[in-house]
Amino acid sequence: MNASVDFDRRLLDADVTGSRAHARMLARQGVISAEDAAAIDRGLVEVRDALAAGELAWDPALEDVHMNVEARLIEKIGDAGRRLHTGRSRNDQVATDLRLWAKQAAQTLVAQLGELRAALVKKARAHVDTLMPGYTHLQRAQPVRAAHHFLAYQEMFERDQGRVLDAIARADVSPLGSGALAGTTFPLDRAGVAEELGFAGVTRNSLDAVGDRDFAIELVAACALVQVHLSRLAEELVLWCSQEAGFARLSDRYSSGSSLMPQKKNPDLAELVRGKTGRVVGAWVTLVTVVKGLPLAYNKDLQETQEPLYDALETATASVEVTAGMIDDLTLDVARLARAVGEGHLVATELADYLVSKGVAFRDAHDVAGHLVRTAIDRGVELAALSLDDLRAADARFDADVYGWLDPLAAVDRRDLPGAPARPRVVAELTRLEAELGLGAASDVSAKK
Ligand code: ARG
Repeated sequence: MNASVDFDRRLLDADVTGSRAHARMLARQGVISAEDAAAIDRGLVEVRDALAAGELAWDPALEDVHMNVEARLIEKIGDAGRRLHTGRSRNDQVATDLRLWAKQAAQTLVAQLGELRAALVKKARAHVDTLMPGYTHLQRAQPVRAAHHFLAYQEMFERDQGRVLDAIARADVSPLGSGALAGTTFPLDRAGVAEELGFAGVTRNSLDAVGDRDFAIELVAACALVQVHLSRLAEELVLWCSQEAGFARLSDRYSSGSSLMPQKKNPDLAELVRGKTGRVVGAWVTLVTVVKGLPLAYNKDLQETQEPLYDALETATASVEVTAGMIDDLTLDVARLARAVGEGHLVATELADYLVSKGVAFRDAHDVAGHLVRTAIDRGVELAALSLDDLRAADARFDADVYGWLDPLAAVDRRDLPGAPARPRVVAELTRLEAELGLGAASDVSAKK
């Protein structure tokens, strides 16, 4: 139970990088000799490479990555290796390693989120003029551009990128020099080490620094929200690919057949992305629960903060990557979407808005439109199939131009406000995003993939 090397071996690079910076600084400050520092530096690189290549085996008896590296260093270079841990504790060491690992993993996630945003924007560009039903309560509500639907998800992932970057900014301080809990007697150059390791600064309180895992909690919270957004999108992909909807298809790259039923094509990857949300949200719950009630400063409980951190980052990053691939792979059935827009009285609101344009109060206009929807349902037709006489029987202010209002495309384009799905608004959003994401705006609008 004491051993963490099975999972904290992920910290090998960070640990060696941190130790090399620490040793160089010890020499600069005159705490160890330049010769010892040089031997330590060479030795650490050899140990790292040998462990990474599997030439040296990890020893669980040595507990963790830190002791594995240090013991191997001492085996290799002897006495000089015994000086490396001067002015340092595993407590500030692991806190440093975890921050280095977290920063890098978070940058990878930010980059992957960028790829996903780009995939959504490209798909949106290809479907500026594809109409689909917009839903509330999973009931067909009003027509929208498919592009607008894809861009709704891009909004979520744009915010997610911001959250991960915020978490990185707070992870970006070096705890080295905090010692076990109360600093150290040696004249360490904390700022110099921080700079060499690429940290923006140093922690301000040694007791807090060795026990602080806020950065992990924040980052995993951001991952949990990423995964929640992914699961919403995955759920829609599953629905769209069902025979009931038939709005879209995923290729065999992202779906698989059933071992029993030859006709099936299951959207496994979308389902897995949706399902992995449980893991990532669970990781956040694990983290906050481990830290809750811990007295200052370091406690071994904190070793239990590592696995949820790794699992959340690794799961979210892989899920984002797979989802970007699925969006790229997705083929919309444009004709079927158009049929769906034409079924279910999605333009009922237009009737009400039309009457409002003739001076009717909206509540009254809404009643009239509702009455006409009931008439259409009774006759088993859509609203556009009602005659002008039918409409006038409900309200004398209807004229022949009302049929123009009932065209779904016209209905969408009348929604011409910031954030709404009228063509110029959607195109302006695409242009903004293509510039930000470095996607040449030359995408083929006619490509209906
Ligand atoms: N493997 C330990 C961890 O992850 C390193 C720190 C151990 N510190 C200690 N005082 N035993 O927390």
